Amino acid sequence: MNHPATHTDRVAVVTGSAQGFGRAIAVELAQRGADIVAIDLRDAAETVAEVEEAGRRAVSIQADVTDPDAVQGAREQAFDTFGTVDILVNNAGSYPFKDFFDVDYAFWKKIHALNLDSQFLTAQAFCPSMRDNGWGRVVNIASNSLGLAVPSLSHYMSSKGGVVGFTRGLATDLAPFGITVNAVAPTASRTPGGEETFPTEVLDNVASMQAIRRNGVASDVTGTVCFLSSEDCAFVTGQTIMADGGLVRL
Ligand SMILES: NC(=O)c1ccc[n+]([C@@H]2O[C@H](COP(=O)([O-])OP(=O)(O)OC[C@H]3O[C@@H](n4cnc5c(N)ncnc54)[C@H](O)[C@@H]3O)[C@@H](O)[C@H]2O)c1
Repeated sequence: MNHPATHTDRVAVVTGSAQGFGRAIAVELAQRGADIVAIDLRDAAETVAEVEEAGRRAVSIQADVTDPDAVQGAREQAFDTFGTVDILVNNAGSYPFKDFFDVDYAFWKKIHALNLDSQFLTAQAFCPSMRDNGWGRVVNIASNSLGLAVPSLSHYMSSKGGVVGFTRGLATDLAPFGITVNAVAPTASRTPGGEETFPTEVLDNVASMQAIRRNGVASDVTGTVCFLSSEDCAFVTGQTIMADGGLVRL
């Protein structure tokens, strides 16, 4: 598909971009003209190759987004490479099922550290330069599970509820600096993580409840993330958009 040049010469950080949603988001941002900082626990070499195929530059930074020092190190590497950052996509996350009575405090904190605290750490690292530039975009990945009665996900729904609240609060704090902050909520999808986590019956069941009766795939969130990270969304902030086949209605 030919994408419009909505992101020419922007520099975008995408966390968790070695695979799944993050990789698809990084590649489409590049196809729309952005250079990419791919942060992941794993080497994002395949993402970098796809970005370069699209004619843009990318750097793979192996860092744990739950580790404040690692995030600061990633910030330094990103600025050494590109000199600035305009867009932050907070995508890294995990969504293991666990019955509430089997969730201990360490597990609860681990899920919140990855799905929520990491978004605070990266926002603290990358938003000051957006503030100084007078322009920026933050897009946080939430989840449509917040609007559903899914069992054994209270730890996850709590962390993603935090993402929605953080998005709303940060949107107000950063608006004076030309920075918008929004969230995108996908449905249970056939990403590598999704296929590992969800039994086929669950994926089939979710698809059957959506208005658009097929499972989501990684490319189903990219258009919404690109809109929210473009100039087009200059007057849209603090919102959570369901990119979920019409399952959850706000
Ligand atoms: N796939 C779904 O069904 C679904 C549904 C709703 C929301 N989401 C959300 O979408 C996001 C991405 O999901 P996905 O399905 O693409 O996941 P995935 O498991 O396929 O990919 C996640 C990526 O994040 C990286 N990562 C994990 N922990 C990290 C850490 N501490 N530091 C840096 N990188 C780390 C992994 O190495 C991996 O490359 C998550 O926030 C998830 O909660 C997914």
